[in-house]
Amino acid sequence: MKRHLKHPIFTIISEEADKLGQECYVIGGFVRDLFLTRESKDIDVVTLGSGIQLAQQVAKRLGPRTPVSVFKNFGTAMIKTNDLEVEFVGARKESYQPDSRKPVVEDGTLEDDQKRRDFTINALAICLNQKHYGELVDPFNGIDDLNNRIIRTPLEPGITFSDDPLRMLRAIRFATQLNFIIEEKTLQAIVENKERISIISKERIVEELNKIILSDKPSKGFRLLDKTGLLILIFPELHQLKGVEEVNGKGHKDNFLHTLEVLDRIVPHTNNLWLRWSALLHDIAKPRTKRFVPGIGWTFHAHNYVGEKMIPSLFRRMKLPMNEKMKYIQKMVSLHMRPIVLSEEEVTDSAVRRLLFEAGDDIDDLMTLCEADITSKNAEKVKRYLKNFQLVREKLKDLEERDHIRNFQPPVSGEEIMEIFGLSPCRQVGEIKNAIKEAILEGEIRNEYAEARQYMLKKATEMGLKPVNN
Ligand code: CTP
Repeated sequence: MKRHLKHPIFTIISEEADKLGQECYVIGGFVRDLFLTRESKDIDVVTLGSGIQLAQQVAKRLGPRTPVSVFKNFGTAMIKTNDLEVEFVGARKESYQPDSRKPVVEDGTLEDDQKRRDFTINALAICLNQKHYGELVDPFNGIDDLNNRIIRTPLEPGITFSDDPLRMLRAIRFATQLNFIIEEKTLQAIVENKERISIISKERIVEELNKIILSDKPSKGFRLLDKTGLLILIFPELHQLKGVEEVNGKGHKDNFLHTLEVLDRIVPHTNNLWLRWSALLHDIAKPRTKRFVPGIGWTFHAHNYVGEKMIPSLFRRMKLPMNEKMKYIQKMVSLHMRPIVLSEEEVTDSAVRRLLFEAGDDIDDLMTLCEADITSKNAEKVKRYLKNFQLVREKLKDLEERDHIRNFQPPVSGEEIMEIFGLSPCRQVGEIKNAIKEAILEGEIRNEYAEARQYMLKKATEMGLKPVNN
């Protein structure tokens, strides 16, 4: 272990703890990640005594300008260096009230401190005092659980989860991120305590969901959320996608499973959290728009537009950002059918131009989403779709080079139209501008000034307008 604690900060902490005569350990996520050879920049240090005093001594050694943030109420202190964040805390014992995540805290032993932690793999401690430097303290067999890839609580799981219900989501998140299994009793305790998730803030829930979404196989997390009964409580819209209905022996696909497949399929193509969210939400309105039409079968008419409209209220409730990130997801959801429809028909220039106009800079993300959305088991169908998408991509490239439709700016401005025809702002100016845009998108004229001006004059004449200086 010693050779793993190679950062010079550990030697400094060790010496200062010895000077104060305080036992001192590095503990929690940093130790777990050390064993898993994952990079970790947050170090948690626990000491039997004052964490604040130890932090202040360490900071002095790091140089006179090293700031220490002290949180007296919590008995913690934090030092930020260029490459690390180190948090110091005195070993503590915690007891919780049923209606709160805020525990009553008293000084405790190292084992008390390890017991109050969420999982055995997060309760590992390595001694930093010279005499036992590098020795592992592992009273709950966290190393075995790490080796066997198991998430398990150090105490009876009902207590650990009831104390802090966020840990139910953390269990699922760690299982997903690390590809671990949640031990049976621990899993059962999540089922039993699921209702207590209601005392957790939406922001913390979203933080965990984001980590699940950013993992290599997010479907694992969502399946666990569903299996434990948490999904319906924290994300009912997603839960409603579950299941298959049958009429006259005709079923539709399970949209929950399909959504998870799309989400997993997009992972290798993007680390963009919001594109992954778009994959999760692309069919969110399918339950609301589902109809069985005799002679046709199941339809989900306009589910993309209804989905786009559902997003603001969903984002508000879940405390997701209501800014350009949300607008981006709305755009993805609303346009996600377009390349498919396009490739089912003949791929015309004007249809591709319109798509490029509406998607703008997000066109590549949209194509990535649409390719991930092809989950059919029919190999012929998949081949045809992907071939047509390839055609759409080629056309997009070709048209973009020719027409510069992405981030379209009208080549003739409203001001110029008003000046030429002596108009003040009015409906006619908008009509002319729109006609120019349509002509460009339809390929009647090119996206350039001279042709657009010519077209504008023709259109205005048709509308009975005359240039003022003629
Ligand atoms: N911890 C806990 N219960 C929580 C949050 C944290 O017991 N609800 C403990 C765990 O021992 C954890 C440590 O505090 O390892 C540090 O927490 P945090 O930094 O949130 O998590 P990490 O385990 O470091 O993992 P990550 O950074 O991926 O969240």
